[in-house]
Amino acid sequence: MTASSPMVLSLLLFASLTALLVLAPRASSPPLPLPLPVVVGDEEAPPAAGGGAAGSSGGGAGVEEGPEDLALSRRVTLDASEGAAVASKVAFMFLTNSDLTFAPLWERFFAGHADRFNVYVHADPAVRLRLPPTPSFRGRFVAAKPTRRGDPSLIAAARRLLVAALLDDPANAYFALLSQHCVPLHSFPRLYEALFPPKAAHHHRLPSYIEVLAGEPQMPARYVARGDDAMLPEVPFDRFRIGSQFFTLARRHAVLVVRERRLWRKFREPCLPESQDSCYPEEHYFPTLLDMADPAGCTRYTLTRVNWTDSFEGHPHTYAAPEVSPRLIAELRQSNSSTYEHMFARKFAPDCLGPLMAIADTVIFKD
Ligand SMILES: *[C@@H]1O[C@H](CO)[C@@H](O)[C@H](O)[C@H]1NC(C)=O
Ligand SMILES: *[C@@H]1O[C@H](CO)[C@@H](O)[C@H](O)[C@H]1NC(C)=O
Repeated sequence: MTASSPMVLSLLLFASLTALLVLAPRASSPPLPLPLPVVVGDEEAPPAAGGGAAGSSGGGAGVEEGPEDLALSRRVTLDASEGAAVASKVAFMFLTNSDLTFAPLWERFFAGHADRFNVYVHADPAVRLRLPPTPSFRGRFVAAKPTRRGDPSLIAAARRLLVAALLDDPANAYFALLSQHCVPLHSFPRLYEALFPPKAAHHHRLPSYIEVLAGEPQMPARYVARGDDAMLPEVPFDRFRIGSQFFTLARRHAVLVVRERRLWRKFREPCLPESQDSCYPEEHYFPTLLDMADPAGCTRYTLTRVNWTDSFEGHPHTYAAPEVSPRLIAELRQSNSSTYEHMFARKFAPDCLGPLMAIADTVIFKD
């Protein structure tokens, strides 16, 4: 029995060191009783830690992994077990740089299912959120760094959310990345049953829902955005993939992502100044990595519907209040896949909250 105590002691020491690292930059936050990576944020997102706006050129400041990021992802390697005895949960990970306007809609989606989900928020610390978090979001802010579009800081933020969610609750079995512009298209039970089919006896081979595409017209330009051979030898062009950053990963793939360094080192390299229009590393890193690591474990479909018709400067169509209707919800749910439905949709402008709430119970959560 006593033989195991040095092991236990060193684990405890490691855990408390990690806790120090996580909490140190936020000395003003009340200390947490456990080494949770979740930072308590009461009414607002924590103020900017590193000061000022997102980094200048050459990779945003948020790309750098501090000792806290590294220590946390190392802990994940100790904690990679699957199949907890309690009910499996879904981790909803919100990546945002503005108010969580749709929080009331998500609250209605979550209501009555508290034992089946966890929320995590990565809020760009350069932006002050004006809306106070609603109950499910309160105290669920992870230690965040600045994020910028077309820059690997979005990948770094997603990795940070995954680490926080992996460490926070071993029952988290799926990890859904969402933005402040995402809305649910179905009820929580419908999502849960789709993710955890009652007939699937073993949850350890559940698939990841991530879009994985090849042969898209913009890919040659995206591939050379850091220079002609910059991705070699790790990523030859024929292994390079594209897909939406809004994935829902199974736990084993979430662990794989946060432990991965080889491709991440490549994708975090800044794009050439003349290639900024082709610089969307967050649309390539995850599909490329997962298609290399476990192609059979990915559905290749995303659960999050988006409308690219008449897209403008890389932004998809943003729905405005007058467009919200029961018909729109029905259209957005339709998928080209016969197997997978869309469970979420983007992008919705803040003024859609009222019209969406008005049809929440009668349309969106009625399925
Ligand atoms: C997609 O957006 C276009 C406008 O860019 C719109 O006309 C079309 O109705 C939208 N499609 C769906 C399914 O909402
Ligand atoms: C379905 O496939 C068609 C043809 O490839 C495409 O135009 C359409 O956008 C797809 N719809 C969805 C919901 O992905």
